[in-house]
Amino acid sequence: MNPSTSLPDAKLAPQADSSVLQIFGGHRLHGHVKISGAKNSALVIMAGALLCSGDCHIRNVPLLADVEKMGQVLSALGVKVSRQGDILDINASNITTSKAPYELVTQLRASFFAIGSILARLGVAQMPLPGGCAIGARPVDLHVRGLQAMGAEVQIEHGICNAYVPNGGRLKGAKIYLDTPSVGATETLMMAATLADGETIIENAAREPEVADLANFCNAMGAKIHGAGSSVITIEGVPQLHSVDYSIIPDRIETGTFLVAGAITRSDILLSPVVPDHLIPVIAKLREIGVQIIEEAPDCLRILPAETLKATYIETLPHPGFPTDMQAPFMALLTLAEGDSIINESVFENRLRHASELNRLGADIRVKGNTAFVRGVPNLSGAPVIGTDLRASAALVLAGLAADGQTTFQGLHHLDRGYDRLDIKLQQLGAKIKRVNEVSTPGVTSNGSTPPVTIAN
Ligand code: EPZ
Repeated sequence: MNPSTSLPDAKLAPQADSSVLQIFGGHRLHGHVKISGAKNSALVIMAGALLCSGDCHIRNVPLLADVEKMGQVLSALGVKVSRQGDILDINASNITTSKAPYELVTQLRASFFAIGSILARLGVAQMPLPGGCAIGARPVDLHVRGLQAMGAEVQIEHGICNAYVPNGGRLKGAKIYLDTPSVGATETLMMAATLADGETIIENAAREPEVADLANFCNAMGAKIHGAGSSVITIEGVPQLHSVDYSIIPDRIETGTFLVAGAITRSDILLSPVVPDHLIPVIAKLREIGVQIIEEAPDCLRILPAETLKATYIETLPHPGFPTDMQAPFMALLTLAEGDSIINESVFENRLRHASELNRLGADIRVKGNTAFVRGVPNLSGAPVIGTDLRASAALVLAGLAADGQTTFQGLHHLDRGYDRLDIKLQQLGAKIKRVNEVSTPGVTSNGSTPPVTIAN
């Protein structure tokens, strides 16, 4: 087994809309895939860097369009942002405006979470509402109510959330109960509380590993956060936060996606670095389906082919339950299981849209409300498919790896938002997958320029 496959440095170029992925299924994977830093840590830690009056040196940052976009949001606020490989340097000592750019925030929900940091630093923030997306309405009422509990006045008009602390004061510590253990609301309020006057307690807090990663980042800057990762988080406000050098945790959803890639192609592959504790429900479910997963080392997983894939029942839940971000990839896998599986999406109200595109590949899925009934089929057959959101897109690529013949995937702007060079990593594992510009010869865009992701030699 190739002990390590290091990805050459790359830079994201503007996505050529006509680029698609061409996948020839039926090929086993082999070797080792390097897992990148967690998207949902990187984005919120970049928002957390706004709390800091010094330099933030952040390592293991994935190469994602969403990270680029978040960097643009920070730059628009007057923050210094520079990137060298997988290292981001951010200096927010001089935030020049409290008004976040409308067109960027509405495209990137995570940037809304920065309202907590901006309000904590400046006492005022004008943050556009993130708006809904393909998977649901995505309200921010829990974020707003929590900030109000901490003494902020909040008015929403013309699509902007205007928040300020009266009399130019500081936010005050408060006891907050979240109706839903919202990841974003927990993170927004935790950041706001780091510089508040007094103690804040967040009850029914989200327990996702990325919440704990943000807390560890803030504590490394001198914050006083306890209990992150549990459902009760206590934050003691401090006057200011200092410079930090921090490394982001590996992406558990990318890890889960590659585990499914191994399972659906009946392959034997290695994944590292990983944190198995962040993947307990995912590993348990894969083992229940019949896939062998071995901890080769504390930060390395190996997946071995299953004899047959067994049908199962999945209900998505807040952590430590089965992650909603793994629902679509597992649906792709279960299309080839023996028997009938049931998938209940309980976190988001509209996150089963990939079912119809999987059916285009020969799957047999029926959706009723928030439940998908997946009847296993002996095989899938390649076809042109379109991704509707980030994880749905990953599911279609995974299905294409197993489908007979050619699958053409459209929707790279979704995939490049949240997966670090997924197609290149799959290629390195032996998948027959390549990014082509639909209107020109494969590998070269119509105007002769290089494909969207340029790999530096
Ligand atoms: C985070 O989104 C992640 N995004 C999502 O990942 C992930 O699916 C989600 O958490 C759940 O784990 C980032 O971290 C950037 P929530 P977030 O607030 O914070 C309701 C991916 O594919 N809710 O935990 O927006 C909401 O409608 C993305 O990587 C309110 O009602 O999710 C949903 O039903 C997709 N009011 C539920 O809570 C609020 O104020 C969970 O949402 C906030 C949320």
